[in-house]
Amino acid sequence: AILGSTYTGAFDDVKVLNDKLAALNASKGLDVRIHVDGASGAFVAPFLYPDLQWDFRLPLVTSINASGHKYGLVFPGVGWLVFRNAEAMSPELAFHTNYLGSDQPSITLNFSKPASAVLGQYFVFLRLGKQGYAQVMQNLNEIAHYLRDKLVETGHFKILSKDVGVPLVAISLLPGKDGKNRFYDEFQLSDRLRQSGWTLPAYTMPPSISHVKLLRAVIREDFSRALADKLVADMNRAIDYLDHHFCVTEEQVKEYGQHVVDDFLGKGPHIKPPKKSKFNGVC
Ligand SMILES: Cc1ncc(COP(=O)(O)O)c(C=O)c1O
Repeated sequence: AILGSTYTGAFDDVKVLNDKLAALNASKGLDVRIHVDGASGAFVAPFLYPDLQWDFRLPLVTSINASGHKYGLVFPGVGWLVFRNAEAMSPELAFHTNYLGSDQPSITLNFSKPASAVLGQYFVFLRLGKQGYAQVMQNLNEIAHYLRDKLVETGHFKILSKDVGVPLVAISLLPGKDGKNRFYDEFQLSDRLRQSGWTLPAYTMPPSISHVKLLRAVIREDFSRALADKLVADMNRAIDYLDHHFCVTEEQVKEYGQHVVDDFLGKGPHIKPPKKSKFNGVC
């Protein structure tokens, strides 16, 4: 199960999964258990949604991973894999050495490495405590909702992230004004936003809905309301630019038809799509 989809930040319903799997295990005589990929959500859910059952409160949840460098609020280099109990961890994951004078079980993947990231995480745990994490997460969530509302107000975006989930805002472009086609997509908008210093990645959803394109703003500790306002202003500026400096690709002409392109451009039928490659636009 995934607690915090990489694409939209949405939480899988681990409780429903647990209950359905328990019924399946009972009817088929199986012993299938659940690993929760809480890379983002495992440091969010306990503080924002303490009553949400996704963890070891559910009997089939056997292991959970969490990234320290995401909402663990520490620099990159540490991630956590927690097992329900020692029995849940396959003994094959550990190997034993005794060359340091006594039995040393090791479950690392790359053996010796610096402990600085672990110390960094330990420091943040002590520094913030549960209350500090709860306050940070609450703040991030409020900023995410603020940004979401401001983006909706622009009339340009559909929100694909959920209210309950990781504090991020995932959006896709709505059709242009009066339902007209836009001759640019989320990738071009992302590219344009880089010129204002924003790294807002554009990406596509998984294979079955890969036609859906998104942009994602992950809200981190240093993202303020003032920055959210600036991002929205830069988005509006970027969209205004793209509306007036568009490229028409051969692919778009095929999709919409030459007459739609001509109508949009208002320049008559003499505008031709490029011949060579569908990736080369006519600007
Ligand atoms: C759901 C999910 N799992 C795993 C990962 C990888 O985490 P890490 O960068 O800590 O290896 C990510 C990172 O984006 C993620 O979103």
